[in-house]
Amino acid sequence: MTDKTPPCACACATHDPARRSVLTGALALALAPLGAPALAQATGRSQKPEPGDRLAYMMGDKKDQEIKPGDLVAGEAPTLAYPLDPASGKVLVSRVNLLTVVKLKAEDIKPASQKNAADGIVAFSAICTHYGCPITTLHPSQSQIVCNCHGSVFNAADRGVVTNGPAVRRLAMLPLAIQDGALVVAGKFDGPLGPPT
Ligand code: FES
Repeated sequence: MTDKTPPCACACATHDPARRSVLTGALALALAPLGAPALAQATGRSQKPEPGDRLAYMMGDKKDQEIKPGDLVAGEAPTLAYPLDPASGKVLVSRVNLLTVVKLKAEDIKPASQKNAADGIVAFSAICTHYGCPITTLHPSQSQIVCNCHGSVFNAADRGVVTNGPAVRRLAMLPLAIQDGALVVAGKFDGPLGPPT
């Protein structure tokens, strides 16, 4: 793990106070019902990510600030984010919009993911398809991402396919692009969100 690797082999939040603190807010949101109308900040537009939206940090010192392409570095932990409406400047906060964003090495990205990547940056629904925990950890391979709740692993370089369960459904990928130097949403989620019902 490249993000505050805890002293235990399991890399779980239980043994890492920093990770536990970060996950508390994200987990509370992640466990809300998928259909919850939590977009108090939204404008009259669609409440889902739309082409042209920017991405904003979910938490931390840069909370609600736009993520710039140069902010993300290959080998660093995924960043939790929400879509940002560029017209209003509003962050579209809801469980279904929570994203996990990671920069990969260009040579690792499979063709199926390449068309949805922007300068090596890929974005997926952050809601684990097992039980819905937020996905926050980079696998030692640096091309896969891990859910710490029960250890599911998803290949970020290959459309979020499951490489280790208990999850059985891949993560939905959100296409990205770089336009005029900005990191933008380039399409809709390419699959269902969250655990199978
Ligand atoms: S909620 Fe992610 S592995 Fe169980």
